[in-house]
Amino acid sequence: ADQKQAAKPKVLKVGTEPSFAPFEFQEEGSKEYTGFDMDLIRAVGKQMGYEVQIVSMGFDGLIPALESGQIDAVASGMSITEERAKKVAFSKPYYKSGLTMVIKSDNNSIKTFKDLEGKSIGVQIGTTGAEEARKIKDAKIREFNTPPEAFMELKNNGVDAVVNDLPVNEYFIAKTGAKDVKLAGEVQNAENYGIAIAKKNTELSEKVNKALDDIKANGEYEKIYMKWFNK
Ligand code: ARG
Repeated sequence: ADQKQAAKPKVLKVGTEPSFAPFEFQEEGSKEYTGFDMDLIRAVGKQMGYEVQIVSMGFDGLIPALESGQIDAVASGMSITEERAKKVAFSKPYYKSGLTMVIKSDNNSIKTFKDLEGKSIGVQIGTTGAEEARKIKDAKIREFNTPPEAFMELKNNGVDAVVNDLPVNEYFIAKTGAKDVKLAGEVQNAENYGIAIAKKNTELSEKVNKALDDIKANGEYEKIYMKWFNK
């Protein structure tokens, strides 16, 4: 055998719902998946000697895909919750997040989550934002496949507010120059994002945690963080 031939790298199939800028998205006109999570998981994969292959799917399909072995890991701004941790394993937290809302700029009646009582709320299906919205008294919840669709409905006055992750709301308002909408609400829920892995795949979980430690120690994590969040 040719000793010099490099071993074929192992492939890590990573599921994501890629309409969640700046964590996972596609730049206009590009098919490539980019964002904080995408850079992070590629760095983690590289550290472990794996080639990362991104698989796009609906957010509510990610955990089932992990359970059925269709994918090896999830990097999708997924918050570590007790409920999810019953089904899948999470890596150590890699990003601190939380929920806020986006409302129309001329709306002065919604200031806190309590003000959403009886209002219509847009959320992404299967998210912690959807969970939180469901707790609000008499609210009419409208579930969308992606946050951009919920934002669009807000712009069209189809919903009164969108409940979604703060960094994604901020990015949407800043980067799309959406002047007719604004951020509102005290930050709800301290949420941590984690990489999800099948419970039985303990070896992979250990490798991922070790790789996260390594890229934190060697400055790679910091580089990626600064690239996306150095405002
Ligand atoms: N952090 C929220 C959750 O875990 C929303 C994540 C949505 N992610 C996405 N890629 N669309 O429920």
